[in-house]
Amino acid sequence: MKTTDAAVLDEPKIHEPTADAVVEPAIEGRPRPTAVGIKDAKVYIDGKFYSEADAKVSVFDHGLLYGDGIFEGIRFYNGRVFRLGEHLDRLWDSARSIALEIPMTKDAMTEALLETIRQNHMRDGYVRLVVTRGIGNLGLNPTQCKWPSVIIIVAAITLYHDNLYRKGLTIVTCATRRCNPGALNPAVKSLNYLNNVMARLEANLADADEALMLNDQGNVAECTADNVFVIKRGQIVTPPVTAGALRGITRSVAFEIAEELGFKTLKADITRHDIYAADECFLTGTAAEIIPVVKADGRMIGNGKPGPITTRIIARFREMTRDTGTPIYG
Ligand SMILES: Cc1ncc(COP(=O)(O)O)c(C=O)c1O
Repeated sequence: MKTTDAAVLDEPKIHEPTADAVVEPAIEGRPRPTAVGIKDAKVYIDGKFYSEADAKVSVFDHGLLYGDGIFEGIRFYNGRVFRLGEHLDRLWDSARSIALEIPMTKDAMTEALLETIRQNHMRDGYVRLVVTRGIGNLGLNPTQCKWPSVIIIVAAITLYHDNLYRKGLTIVTCATRRCNPGALNPAVKSLNYLNNVMARLEANLADADEALMLNDQGNVAECTADNVFVIKRGQIVTPPVTAGALRGITRSVAFEIAEELGFKTLKADITRHDIYAADECFLTGTAAEIIPVVKADGRMIGNGKPGPITTRIIARFREMTRDTGTPIYG
């Protein structure tokens, strides 16, 4: 039986615009700087490469209409893609969770991603890998969408100024709670990031570098695009995935490094108190890498400077990003 939605909303039909139908665009055409910071950037969409200006998806793609899709943010350094296998595993886990069939194998995805970087002649940068549910009608039922779309965008990246890696970030707790896993599981890296965007807005309004998001229990979940770590008496702790933290790839690298350096590590619930009382605090994320936090909700963390353990972990992380990963150019 058809739902009301589907009965009312038929497949989109393409109409030639008539003179009457032409309306002024809401924003006048004006020269736009390249969004990805690369001259003559090439974007991969479903097996083909397009210039940035021609890289377009349908307005009927449910990725746009409903945030129905998944993504990964991946970094490459010195001609190698960092932790590519882990990113693809997480993408496939997200897909399974939302019952989305990625229309290619992991090997084919690896090759498409490497080729997109090659097409852009880059050795250091960021890759945004997106799989949308594909084109459907205006009803939200995903069964309308027969062909998921794969999009790969390569960009130049600097998330934070160098200064902030030396001085550390200021974070504020935001009122927006991390999505309850029973409603939308934060372990799924979905295209629906409005929860994070709302938190990010709060950080902007408070003039802070990042927003700390709590879960429904009032425990720390994560920041808007980073995992949170505290260090107390040499022990390094981060919230578990069940607290609303993404299973961050950089999070697991930070744990590997901490263990290699001989520190005790623990995944456990933490509260804001644990952040205020921490000796050190840092965030991890593919874009942010590993970055110290020196102030939370107006309280200085430790002595207000990036701590010694954090500094060692960052140094080792930089070595790993430089020397390891999937080679791009053979
Ligand atoms: C909500 C959220 N948490 C944490 C992270 C950090 O994860 P990763 O280290 O895999 O980039 C990200 C970024 O991917 C994120 O979007």
